[in-house]
Amino acid sequence: MSRVLLALADQTVADGLFAELSRRGVEVDRAETAEDGVDLARAGEVDALIVGAGMPRPQRLELIRRVRSLWPSALVFVAGPDGDPAVVVEAVKAGADDYVVLSSPAADVAGRLVRALEPSPDALLATEAAGRGEEVLEGIIGGSAPIQRVFERVRKVAGADSTVLILGESGTGKELIARAIHALSHRARGPLIPVNCGAIPEELLESELFGHEKGAFTGAIKTRLGRFELAKGGTIFLDEVGDMSPNLQVKLLRVLQEHQFERIGGGRSIKAEIRVIAATNQDVRAKVSQGGFREDLFYRLHVIPIQVPPLRARRDDLPALVGHFVAQCAARVGLPRPKVPPAVMDLFSAYDWPGNVRELENVIERLVILSEGEYLSAEELPARIRSLAPGGATAAPSAGGHIFSFPEPGPGGVSFNDAVDEFERRLIQWALAASDGVKNRAAALLDLNRTTLVEKIRKKGIKFPG
Ligand SMILES: Nc1ncnc2c1ncn2[C@@H]1O[C@H](COP(=O)(O)OP(=O)(O)OP(=O)(O)O)[C@@H](O)[C@H]1O
Ligand SMILES: [Mg+2]
Repeated sequence: MSRVLLALADQTVADGLFAELSRRGVEVDRAETAEDGVDLARAGEVDALIVGAGMPRPQRLELIRRVRSLWPSALVFVAGPDGDPAVVVEAVKAGADDYVVLSSPAADVAGRLVRALEPSPDALLATEAAGRGEEVLEGIIGGSAPIQRVFERVRKVAGADSTVLILGESGTGKELIARAIHALSHRARGPLIPVNCGAIPEELLESELFGHEKGAFTGAIKTRLGRFELAKGGTIFLDEVGDMSPNLQVKLLRVLQEHQFERIGGGRSIKAEIRVIAATNQDVRAKVSQGGFREDLFYRLHVIPIQVPPLRARRDDLPALVGHFVAQCAARVGLPRPKVPPAVMDLFSAYDWPGNVRELENVIERLVILSEGEYLSAEELPARIRSLAPGGATAAPSAGGHIFSFPEPGPGGVSFNDAVDEFERRLIQWALAASDGVKNRAAALLDLNRTTLVEKIRKKGIKFPG
């Protein structure tokens, strides 16, 4: 999903654009000041920035420069009622790509932006996969029994308006599941408004969610709608809900129980006409027993849990997922679609995928780009996967093994520097042993530059053998 940062002085225009972009599946973060914009840009990747010509000039230019340097591939637009040449020229000099005229309807502006963001071959590929008889639910691939059970549940709960809590390790596809539930529900024509509770700084999150009245706090120059209000008639997706602060947990509980909320600084209760889907990769139950998450909120969210299984528990999905990502990546970078040799598939099947589907997607991207010729090359796999090959490097260092053992604390504790130094020494010795002392291979095994490795060996006076 693309993330767009809106920094507009006119909140009515911002509301309109926000609604139109959200409807098109774009994650939108709004900043009322250029300074807030910089904070939000630091908090996570930005695919596009729209900064209003109405923002004070130095801050506006500073925001453009900051986004340009933090996220070089972002699309940066300066927006205003007309194309004032002075504004355009200085914005472009600061790094902006183009000018957006805000007098045209929000839907047109949003449509243009979305087209600029994604010349995406995804939809096409999903249709292809379905044509090959692969199991696909709203673009989610998976024919294995565990994921089929998840699909079944998604179809069942979509129609009901109940709160859903999606649980699962990082990268398992929780966000895709949330989108599928929304798309299959009677709210599909309404907006799906995502909020990443972990990425937005806490002070901003409250006003993001609930909105605020004019004058509610210094800087609240205008009334602003929160995401609970903007999601009206649709779904709000509270991602990383486990990261919510205790203060906001109380407020969320109230929304879930009473279906109403107030804007910050406002006395009037507003009806929450939304469905809530939440997700987390944390063990919230454990967090509850440690006092980090409210028990009442947990049970309120946990009405219908959906547990998304890790990739290692559904290895049957690997071939279809690999085929999908290879095709997707080749199309994106404009290369012919390479074939997947059995040796690579075998390594994929042997590997545990702690980063789940996202890790697989990234590994495939690397392979597609680095492999030359008709086949994906096992040589280009990261060392952690390549070393699983029979006759490859010896077993990887395992937690609790001799490499990772924790030093006995002395009376004064543990010296951090000594412990790290000792750890590096053992790791390097292991890698040298695993690659018969060939430094190139040892470096690859550790995902280090050869020169870095050689330098460390020299500095630490490591000898091989022993
Ligand atoms: N079954 C699937 N079919 C196709 N693509 C998938 C599937 N599962 C995950 N993906 C892709 O893998 C990536 C990670 O998925 P997603 O963002 O939904 O995971 P997540 O569980 O929300 O992760 P996190 O906890 O880190 O936020 C995305 O690019 C998504 O499109
Ligand atoms: Mg996610």
